[in-house]
Amino acid sequence: MTKAHATEQQPDTEYLFDTGSDAGAEHMDLLSRLFDRHSFGVLEPVSIRAGQRCLDLGAGGGSVTRWLADRVGPAGEVVAIDIDTTRLATGPGITVHRHDINDGLTGPLAGPYDLIHARLMLMHLPRRDQILTGLVDALAPGGTLVVGDVSGRPLTVLSAGDARDLAVWERIQYLSHEVVSPAGGIDFGWAHRINEAMIGAGLVDIEGVEVSHTVSGGTPGALLHAVLNQQAHNQLLAAGAEPWELARYQELARDPQFRTWFYQFVCLRGRRSC
Ligand SMILES: C[S@@+](CC[C@H](N)C(=O)[O-])C[C@H]1O[C@@H](n2cnc3c(N)ncnc32)[C@H](O)[C@@H]1O
Repeated sequence: MTKAHATEQQPDTEYLFDTGSDAGAEHMDLLSRLFDRHSFGVLEPVSIRAGQRCLDLGAGGGSVTRWLADRVGPAGEVVAIDIDTTRLATGPGITVHRHDINDGLTGPLAGPYDLIHARLMLMHLPRRDQILTGLVDALAPGGTLVVGDVSGRPLTVLSAGDARDLAVWERIQYLSHEVVSPAGGIDFGWAHRINEAMIGAGLVDIEGVEVSHTVSGGTPGALLHAVLNQQAHNQLLAAGAEPWELARYQELARDPQFRTWFYQFVCLRGRRSC
């Protein structure tokens, strides 16, 4: 479904997942457990100070929002934006706004911000380059933008029970990444274009990390695969997946004998010139 303000060239798409559902709660918890340490490693050197103003875009479960709020303190402000604010709570220094970033940053959401963070957000938005430019415009002079997304690095399976299980896993991953995700506006190529987009928007001192690791069934990485494809169940069926394949996929994601490479996470920060 496209939205009324969509352009013909790059129509906005409806977000594929449901943060407010039970599966969405598990999804957000797993993202925090998998990615927070890497995000915090990129955020830490920014030396966010008491009294500063930050934006957490697509804040999800709010783990990064809370980390930022601890640093800016009650004298500062962390603005947490999401189209679904079910999992976000206001608190000292935290304001929560239900908002679609495709509509820009205006009114109480307008800059300037000392820091803007967007994790696993821009990869979902077809107008990601334009939105990144808008985020840079909302930075205070000297402010920092931190963007983290996962790339399309091949997720090679390292150990599956047998050839049939391997084929099931690879087929569901293929349908998920090559059919369902693009239809939902997701671009796995974006992660490796963040650097170029930051340069194009005029940011300087761009630095960051790329990390990837292996995961076994039953651990957070494999369970993230499971909960993503659980939320996209109907889209996967429409793409041609068989119900027994989706059921076996869920079992493999919980089987300790199953091992695979997990998503590569690319996280960069760039600074607006003073
Ligand atoms: C994959 S989750 C990432 C959550 C969080 N940033 C994290 O990394 O833990 C993406 C979040 O962006 C929100 N979202 C999706 N499209 C959005 C939009 N157009 N504007 C604002 N938020 C959006 C979703 O509701 C979801 O909570």
